[in-house]
Amino acid sequence: MNIRHLIDITDFTTAEIDALIATAEDIIENPAKYQDACSHKQLATLFFEPSTRTRLSFESAMLALGGTVLGFSEAASSSTAKGETVMDTIHTVSCYADIIAMRHPKEGAPFAASFSSEVPIINAGDGSHNHPTQTLTDLLTIHRERGSLDNFTIGFCGDLKFGRTVHSLANALSRQTGIHFVFISPDELKMPDHIKHHVLEARGFSYEETTSLEEAMPKLDVLYMTRVQKERFFNEADYIRLKDTYILDPEKLVAAKKELCILHPLPRVNEIAVAVDADPRACYWKQVKNGKYIRMALILKLLGIEV
Ligand code: NCD
Repeated sequence: MNIRHLIDITDFTTAEIDALIATAEDIIENPAKYQDACSHKQLATLFFEPSTRTRLSFESAMLALGGTVLGFSEAASSSTAKGETVMDTIHTVSCYADIIAMRHPKEGAPFAASFSSEVPIINAGDGSHNHPTQTLTDLLTIHRERGSLDNFTIGFCGDLKFGRTVHSLANALSRQTGIHFVFISPDELKMPDHIKHHVLEARGFSYEETTSLEEAMPKLDVLYMTRVQKERFFNEADYIRLKDTYILDPEKLVAAKKELCILHPLPRVNEIAVAVDADPRACYWKQVKNGKYIRMALILKLLGIEV
């Protein structure tokens, strides 16, 4: 059997993503039906970079499917610290586990790892490149909030240069229809050309770029806020200068649509005031919950388990 991996969101067709969303929605409605689906299966979470939600949602997902988990949450506690290559670490773990979710600071590391693995590899974030399982989480949340993945205006705000979640989500949405993109960032943190030219323009999508969140706000149906990615900066002074460029607060939301859906992959630092959490348009805590259900659906799919 050919092993399927999830390295880039386009590894799945849009029909496969729709099916994953349908499974996740069925899991939400009927959790008991799935509770033993992965009994005797093991998930390894190999995190060479910090994480709270992604790693724990994978572990919680596997446990909710009746499976077990193993792994490490920092490179220092693995043989990487002795100089072992990622390829050898993955090869080793694929001798124990049935499926592996890995996060790595180097772009392309999960893709390289997939060549030495005997089991499915899931990219849980590679540097500033991609984050396909966050994208599945975002798509499930948009689907649940709006009832569809088509015909809306989305604003991506913050660090569009280094934010891997925005790269993957823009890529996924440019396979839908009727999406208009508004990129809101300081000049230093603009959406990379490879996404604008080779993904959006190549697929016939329009986008606009602005530095003003206030100006963009009234036209947005979805607002995707992001953190300035401190760990990807070469120089601390630049990070300090840019980190608080955008702070979403109740005052800025006065100009927003009533049915706006506010997303954030989290963790937030300062970019969304805590007071916004009480606004019914704040969907980021629902997004956290959805991350577990879509990962349950993903594990089932990659293991070829039908319930
Ligand atoms: C994101 C990530 O790791 O890229 N977090 C997440 O997985 N939910 C966003 C971030 O760290 O800013």
